[in-house]
Amino acid sequence: MKPVGAAPVLLGLAGLALAAQGQTTTTGPANDPAKAKGKPNFIFIITDDQDLRLGSLEYQPAVQKHIADQGTTFSKHYCTISICCPSRVSLLTGRAAHNTNVTDVSMPYGGYPKFASEGWNDKYLPVWLQEAGYNTYYTGKLMNGFSTATYNNPFPNGWTGTDFFLDPNTYVYYNVTMQRSKEGPRTLTGQYSTDLAASKALDFLDEALADSSSEDDAPQKPFFIGVAPIGPHSETWQGKFSTPVPADRHKDLFPGLKVPRTPNFNPEEPSGGGWIKTLDRQNQTVVDYHDDFYRRRIQSLQAVDELVDGIARRLESAPDVLANTYLIYTSDNGFHVGQHRLAPGKTCSIEEDINVPFVIRGPGISAGAKWELPTSHTDIVPTLFELAGIPLQEEFDGVPMPVTEAAQQQSGEGSIPKSEHVNVEFWGDGILEGDYPGTGSAISGISGLNDTYKALRLLGDGYDLSYTVWCTNEHELYDLKADPWQMNNIYPSAAGSDNSTAPVYGWAKDKLIARGAVCRRPWEALHPAGDVHSLRDAMAPAFDDFYVRQQPRVSFSECKLGYLAEFEGAMQPSIFGDAAGGGYSMEARWEDWT
Ligand SMILES: *[C@@H]1O[C@H](CO)[C@@H](O)[C@H](O)[C@H]1NC(C)=O
Ligand SMILES: *[C@@H]1O[C@H](CO)[C@@H](O)[C@H](O)[C@H]1NC(C)=O
Ligand SMILES: *[C@@H]1O[C@H](CO)[C@@H](O)[C@H](O)[C@H]1NC(C)=O
Ligand SMILES: *[C@@H]1O[C@H](CO)[C@@H](O)[C@H](O)[C@H]1NC(C)=O
Ligand SMILES: *[C@@H]1O[C@H](CO)[C@@H](O)[C@H](O)[C@H]1NC(C)=O
Repeated sequence: MKPVGAAPVLLGLAGLALAAQGQTTTTGPANDPAKAKGKPNFIFIITDDQDLRLGSLEYQPAVQKHIADQGTTFSKHYCTISICCPSRVSLLTGRAAHNTNVTDVSMPYGGYPKFASEGWNDKYLPVWLQEAGYNTYYTGKLMNGFSTATYNNPFPNGWTGTDFFLDPNTYVYYNVTMQRSKEGPRTLTGQYSTDLAASKALDFLDEALADSSSEDDAPQKPFFIGVAPIGPHSETWQGKFSTPVPADRHKDLFPGLKVPRTPNFNPEEPSGGGWIKTLDRQNQTVVDYHDDFYRRRIQSLQAVDELVDGIARRLESAPDVLANTYLIYTSDNGFHVGQHRLAPGKTCSIEEDINVPFVIRGPGISAGAKWELPTSHTDIVPTLFELAGIPLQEEFDGVPMPVTEAAQQQSGEGSIPKSEHVNVEFWGDGILEGDYPGTGSAISGISGLNDTYKALRLLGDGYDLSYTVWCTNEHELYDLKADPWQMNNIYPSAAGSDNSTAPVYGWAKDKLIARGAVCRRPWEALHPAGDVHSLRDAMAPAFDDFYVRQQPRVSFSECKLGYLAEFEGAMQPSIFGDAAGGGYSMEARWEDWT
C-alpha cells in the first residue's frame, strides 16, 4: 500500500481530490535528509486518553500545521493495551504487556512500583538513548503510581533532566504536583498543568540547544525530549473521574459541540460484547452530560495545541536543529464517549479505544502523507532506534515503522509487508468515568466488570477484521469493511450474534475463524517454510486441516485481574509441517507465540 497524498484529516474534500488525482507526496526542504547530520533529535509529545476516532485532532490546528502537514499521519496506529500505565510501559520498552507484566495502573499488577520491580527501570528508552550518547529530558506524566510516595524509590533512571507530574495530583488540572530531577515535590496551586508542561518543555529545549558546539550551531549531543501533558484526561481525584478542566481562556469555546452521532453512539439495540452488551440505553440527561464531557475534552486539548505550537516555533528559530529533529505526536490510548452505550472511558477492544493519533515529521519523512497499514506502540522504540542507528533488540515485540519516504517505498514495492496484525490485550476490570457510569445487569451485579481479553486487529490486502476473545470465552468478530462501527458481531453462535453462514471476503467463516484464533503468531513462525506472509496466503485450502483441526484456540479458564498464565489456555501453537506441533515445550507461554 502506498502512502496517500495530502492527509485528508482536515483538508476534507480538497485533500481527497488531490489524493484521487494521484498527487505524489513531497519531501519539503525542512525534511531533506541530506541536511541532517549526526544522530537525530526527538521531541515526543504524548497526550493522555486522546481519541482518534471521535475526531479530536480536527480541533488542533497546530498539530495539523506543524506536524501532519509537514509529515506523515499513521491512520491505523494502535495501542497494544488500552490503559495508561501498561500502555506507556509497553511504549517505553518496545514490549507487549504480557512481556512486561505491567498490566494495570496499580499494584499488584501495575503502576510505577511494578515497573521498577520487574526491572524495567534499567531497560527502557531513556536508558538506552543515554547509552547511545543522548541528552534525555521529560516533563509531565510518566505513569500511574509515580507519586509523592514512590518518586524516589527508586528515581527513574536514564534522564538528564526531568520535571514530572506526581500522583495523587497528576489529574488535577489547576493543582498539579511536580517534581524536578532529584528534588522534592512541589504543588503548583492555581497554575494550569498543560501550560506548566509547555513551559518546562521549552526550558529543556533551550537547554538542549545551548549544549551546542561553537562551530556549527548544531547541538553537540543529540537530544530526546518527552512531553506528556494530561489533556484530555478526566479531572481525577480520589478515584472519581470528572469532566476534564480546560484552561480558563478556553472554557467557552465550541458552544453546542456534541459527540459525533455515529451509528454506534448510544444505539437503540445493545451492541459490543461481554459486559458492554448488557448496558441500558442512556436517557437525554446522560447524553447531554456526555456531550458536555466531550466538549470539555476538546477544550482541554486547546492548551495542548498551544504547547505544540510553542515547541514548533522555538525549533523553527534553530533551522539546523529543526532539520535534524523528529517531532512526534501521539496518545497513550484511545477513548470512547457514548459508543455502544458506554460511559466515557477506555479499556475496551473497540476501535475508539485502541486506534490512536500518531503523526511524525522530520528528516526523510514525506510531507502531508498518510500511511494506512497497521502499526502499534510497541513499534515506537524500534522506530526511534532505527532512526538513531541503534541496533534493535531481539526482545522487542515491535518492529520499525516505515516512517521515512524511503522505508515506505520499500514496504510498498513487492517486499513483504511489515505486518498486518496488531495484538491488543487487557486484564482487570472495566473502568467507567463521569457522573453516569451506566446501568444494566453487569453493572448492577457489581463485583467489577470482567474486562480481561485478548484481541486481534488484522488489516491487509482486501480485509479489515477485529477479533476478541473474552475471559468469559465469549467471542466477537467484526468485518470492519462492511461494519466500521462494530455493530454486527459475526462470530457464529454467540448470543445475539449473526449466525448466518455467509462467507466473509469469500472465505468460509469457520475457516477464517480458525486462522484468526492463531494468527497472533506471525505467519512466518507458523510456516517456517516461508511460503505464508499474510492471512490471504494462510487461507489457502491446503492449510484448512492444519488450522481447523490442529491449532489450539485461545481460551481462558477464569477471569483474573492480572496476567496469571495458569488461567490462560492454548499458549503454544502447532507449526506447519511438524507433525508433533513440536519444538514448543509445554511450558511455552503466550509470550512465546506472539
Ligand atoms: C492542592 O493539592 C494539595 C496537595 O494534595 C492540597 O493539600 C491542597 O488542598 C490542594 N489545593 C487546592 C486549592 O485544591
Ligand atoms: C436518566 O438516567 C440517569 C442514570 O441512570 C438517572 O439518574 C436519571 O434519573 C434519568 N433521568 C430521567 C429523566 O429519567
Ligand atoms: C445465534 O445462535 C446463538 C446460539 O445458538 C443464539 O443465542 C443467538 O440468539 C443466535 N442469533 C440470532 C441473531 O438468532
Ligand atoms: C467474572 O469472572 C468471574 C471469574 O471467572 C466469574 O465468577 C463471574 O461470574 C464473572 N462475572 C460476570 C458478570 O461475567
Ligand atoms: C505477573 O505478575 C503477577 C503479580 O506479581 C504474578 O502473580 C504473575 O505470576 C506474573 N505473571 C507472569 C506470567 O509472570
